[in-house]
Amino acid sequence: MRIGILGSGLMGGKLGTIFARAGHEVVFSYARSEQKLKKLAREAGGKARAGTPREAAQDADALLLAVHWSRFDDVLQQAGDLSGKVVVSCSLPMNDDDTALAVTHTSSGAEELAKKLPKARVVAAFNTVPSEVFFAVYEAKRKASRPSLVYYGDDRRAKEAAAGLIRDAGFEPVDAGPLRIGRYAEPFALLVAQLAYEGKGGPEVAYRFDWYS
Ligand SMILES: NC(=O)c1ccc[n+]([C@@H]2O[C@H](COP(=O)([O-])OP(=O)(O)OC[C@H]3O[C@@H](n4cnc5c(N)ncnc54)[C@H](OP(=O)(O)O)[C@@H]3O)[C@@H](O)[C@H]2O)c1
Repeated sequence: MRIGILGSGLMGGKLGTIFARAGHEVVFSYARSEQKLKKLAREAGGKARAGTPREAAQDADALLLAVHWSRFDDVLQQAGDLSGKVVVSCSLPMNDDDTALAVTHTSSGAEELAKKLPKARVVAAFNTVPSEVFFAVYEAKRKASRPSLVYYGDDRRAKEAAAGLIRDAGFEPVDAGPLRIGRYAEPFALLVAQLAYEGKGGPEVAYRFDWYS
């Protein structure tokens, strides 16, 4: 697939690298330095390159939205028309100092994003684990037991694309339902962050759901 990365920081940089290593054609965009984007593309190898958000969006089969909540409008404006595009958001609607969710209970970041992009195919994924765990999960992908990763959305095609990318990254996709499940998944992501950054085991943590039926 052609994947445009909108936001090439901790999340976008690592996931873009993993998608490139898994064989996808990746365009890294939206960082404060073009040099950083070029370096990411060089180190990711394969068919990765650096570009502008508009270039990342052009011809993309899927976009990964990986910016702070406060940067959504800017990056989306730079990306241009996303009608019909699959937009996989790994973002959380954090307030300016990252101490709490700015949207919760009665809506979610995923639903608010879909309101901003009514013609795009929005799905949320990758936002419930810390970026620190991605390479370890990818490297362990041939092991029998994979960690779970929830995704949620209202668009079937976007959900299929997200599930494929989740598998490519070494996780087992768990369809958690429609976009409004972000109201539960986004606070859950903060629980995982609490374990990652305040717990004893360190930030390389993922989770796994098992069904005993
Ligand atoms: N980090 C995690 O473990 C984690 C886990 C779950 C969900 N999330 C969510 O994922 C999203 C991305 O998080 P992140 O940790 O990857 O953030 P990050 O490391 O700060 O990356 C954000 C990207 O946006 C770029 N950016 C910011 N302001 C910009 C501007 N004015 N012009 C151009 N580029 C700009 C940054 O540029 P630079 O590269 O130059 O800084 C960076 O590439 C957030 O919504 C976060 O809540 C993060």
